[in-house]
Amino acid sequence: MTKKSLSEIQDAQLDYSAREEKTEIKTDRKIRVGIIGTGWIADAHMDSYKRMPDVEIVAGADLIPGKAEAFFKKHGYEGIRCYPDHKALIDNEELDCVSVCTYNRQHAAPTIYALEHGINVLLEKPMCVTIEEAIEICRAEKKSGKVLSIGFQPRFDANMKMIKKIVEHGDLGQVYYIQTGGGRRRGIPTPFGTSFITDETAGIGALADIGCYSLDMVLNAIGYPKPLTVSGYKSDFFGKDPKTFPDHPEYADAFGVDDFAAAFVRLEGGIILDFRIAWAMNINTPGDTIILGTKGGLRIPSTDCWNGSTGGPMTLYHQIGGKSFETVIPLIDDKGPSLFDRKIRSFLDASMNGTAAPVPSSQILYNQAIIDGIVKSAQAGREIELNVPSFDEI
Ligand SMILES: NC(=O)c1ccc[n+]([C@@H]2O[C@H](COP(=O)([O-])OP(=O)(O)OC[C@H]3O[C@@H](n4cnc5c(N)ncnc54)[C@H](O)[C@@H]3O)[C@@H](O)[C@H]2O)c1
Repeated sequence: MTKKSLSEIQDAQLDYSAREEKTEIKTDRKIRVGIIGTGWIADAHMDSYKRMPDVEIVAGADLIPGKAEAFFKKHGYEGIRCYPDHKALIDNEELDCVSVCTYNRQHAAPTIYALEHGINVLLEKPMCVTIEEAIEICRAEKKSGKVLSIGFQPRFDANMKMIKKIVEHGDLGQVYYIQTGGGRRRGIPTPFGTSFITDETAGIGALADIGCYSLDMVLNAIGYPKPLTVSGYKSDFFGKDPKTFPDHPEYADAFGVDDFAAAFVRLEGGIILDFRIAWAMNINTPGDTIILGTKGGLRIPSTDCWNGSTGGPMTLYHQIGGKSFETVIPLIDDKGPSLFDRKIRSFLDASMNGTAAPVPSSQILYNQAIIDGIVKSAQAGREIELNVPSFDEI
């Protein structure tokens, strides 16, 4: 039998529709799941877990008194044990899996604690805040032998997968330059309070919140080469302006992260990554994503959010018979389970079968290295070297 590459294994795991047809979900032993952090995104996790016949939600935790109890009641669950933080939850329950749905500054501690206690972890994006935390998470994962998957649900979208297929089939030839990013004219996320905008809770703003998606889209397509150097910039002109929050002008004082970031990144293999991302800006888009190769160029229309699919049909620019042509790639109507159901199912399958994580930390480590590098380079006011270890070197 030939050994499958990591990308082949991941492709098979991401092919949720195929799995549904071929594999029966065993329900004789329920997978015991805990939810850490019961805010906005935990709702999406809960909704998906509820649709999984082999899952038993046994407990949850939230720092805010009464929040976890109200959360489970809202979801129609009685008698779920609730705890004041991740440690109390993990110390008191026998769990197979946890979803870490806390704000960014509380991604590393619950993930590491869960892995240290032999629990598989589905960690929301971004992986964490600093590269030092990311390395500690990888170290804990390696020691535990458990599954850690990072919550990038766009990975499961058929149109997003097509980008990787185009690159892997050689339609672009040798990729040498990528421009990516996106953003919103006005879209600093504060509908549920300030957890996305304070330094104490979020740590990083647009750069980590939606920037991590654009980085993942292109880096995953080209096989996640190691980032080598970064020249980064970030700003907070809109977040620090009380007029941005007419109903809550006090949010401007609380604002402690970036609302715009840009960077020039050198990747292993001589590839250049030109990146920009915004929660707020005075333009409709900072540009589509483009991937330039020696045989073809791909334009991926920008979206303002990056949590689902592409912003429209992609166009491949190429030469045929010495003449320039454009091929529009029609959007794939991706029917079937929601992206969240695919993200949760593939995590459960990997956890129960001990197979590779659908969105592995070995890749997202480099995503976090770029984000962290942009922050550090912006602070230093110059290009910096990253010197990030590979997962194997950790
Ligand atoms: N994948 C997606 O589409 C998506 C969408 C939105 C948010 N997110 C990510 O999900 C994370 C959470 O976002 P949100 O909007 O739900 O935030 P939120 O502020 O609404 O909820 C986070 C909750 O975690 C709790 N918490 C923090 N530390 C804790 C700890 N140690 N133990 C127990 N509870 C703890 C907080 O009290 C809060 O209630 C963020 O990192 C965000 O980037 C992902």
